[in-house]
Amino acid sequence: MKELFNRYVQDIETYIMVQIKQRTLELTPELKAKGRAPISLDIGAPTDTPPKYVIDKLKEALDMEGMHRYSTPKGEAFFLDAVAKRMKNRFGVDVDPKTEICSLIGSKEGLANIVRELINPAEKDEDKEIILVPDPGYASYSQMLLVSGGLAYPIPLTLENNYMPDMEEVLSELKKDGYDEKKVKAVIINYPNNPLGATATKEYYKEVVDFCKKHNYLLISDAAYCDMYFDENKKPCSALEVEGAKDVTLEFHSFSKPYAMTGWRLGWVCGNKEALGMFAKQKSTIDTGLFKALQYAAAAILNSEEGEEYIKNANDRFKEKQKILVDGFKKLGWKDEDFVVPDATFYLWLPIPRKYKTSREFTSELLEKSGIVAVPGDAFGKYGEGYARISIVAPKDQLHEVIVRMEKDGFTY
Ligand SMILES: Cc1ncc(COP(=O)(O)O)c(C=O)c1O
Repeated sequence: MKELFNRYVQDIETYIMVQIKQRTLELTPELKAKGRAPISLDIGAPTDTPPKYVIDKLKEALDMEGMHRYSTPKGEAFFLDAVAKRMKNRFGVDVDPKTEICSLIGSKEGLANIVRELINPAEKDEDKEIILVPDPGYASYSQMLLVSGGLAYPIPLTLENNYMPDMEEVLSELKKDGYDEKKVKAVIINYPNNPLGATATKEYYKEVVDFCKKHNYLLISDAAYCDMYFDENKKPCSALEVEGAKDVTLEFHSFSKPYAMTGWRLGWVCGNKEALGMFAKQKSTIDTGLFKALQYAAAAILNSEEGEEYIKNANDRFKEKQKILVDGFKKLGWKDEDFVVPDATFYLWLPIPRKYKTSREFTSELLEKSGIVAVPGDAFGKYGEGYARISIVAPKDQLHEVIVRMEKDGFTY
């Protein structure tokens, strides 16, 4: 049957996180036997229970008249109004609930669909349309382009460029590599960034908006982690805060990370009316929108005191957990100048110990010897080689245990 599927689908590999999960499962009996039961530092999701308030609202909705019928692809008016209010309260951004917002079955669905809708598929690399993607960046972006018959061209995020590279330089590199700038359709940016935890300044957002305007590219801002931050003075912003950004921008938001609602599959996209209209038109042919009860509960949490308090407490806990690992890695030989302690997200981006040649060599040995599951940096793009992504969502005692095991098993920098 495999040959019946298009060649893009035939070509993709199973998603890296699934591969890691499978390998961990295979090794679990052996690891348990030697007192090294797996500790997950690979998960990109909070493990807490969602706010009680949102669960109560969902229960309430289940008994309400009309909740179990089809919704609309764009979303119920009460959901869209709540999103508009959130964008205003959180970022000072005005978006029209009728024309500038659409609900999503999680932001991943929205991102995958917008990529597919922009790209006219081609077989040969030189014919492919291009989207610039952050590297290191969310592993799904390049996969989404692959299955869409497009090409992901890397925007290098490095310590040297402070994770905010000059887009004109990226375009020059693209031309040097023999690609045609006219084939570029869009630019994806993701701040706070997965896997780096890096945030961007409003000035940088303006630079990127201006760049997209100049070249007539769509700016796709992935704001999945915008509410996961540790410093009130460095609150992540929205690309839409830039004056005139709506001329070129669609921004993708998620309920997954801030409220630990990953399994609910809820998000929204907002921004440019015309782009949103095209997106929603396509969406109407492939799904019929979110379960209304979920929209009801999600709308309630978005602008509630309970929601704000939950986010603040969760971020405080992540900060404490981050400290456990940062202090621990320093004990193991990593120095202040070796890694940046992020102001946002629940990730740490750790350079691998010098004795390893590749990220995969390090993360494989870390798993096989110590039962510690981390993600090799190259899974996030070629600029990720030499690093590992460490997620800090595990319980505190497990994070302490990580450092104990690494010390015992010889994992120093
Ligand atoms: C950068 C980034 N964007 C989007 C998503 C997708 O999140 P969801 O589909 O749960 O909204 C993730 C999930 O890990 C992510 O890391």
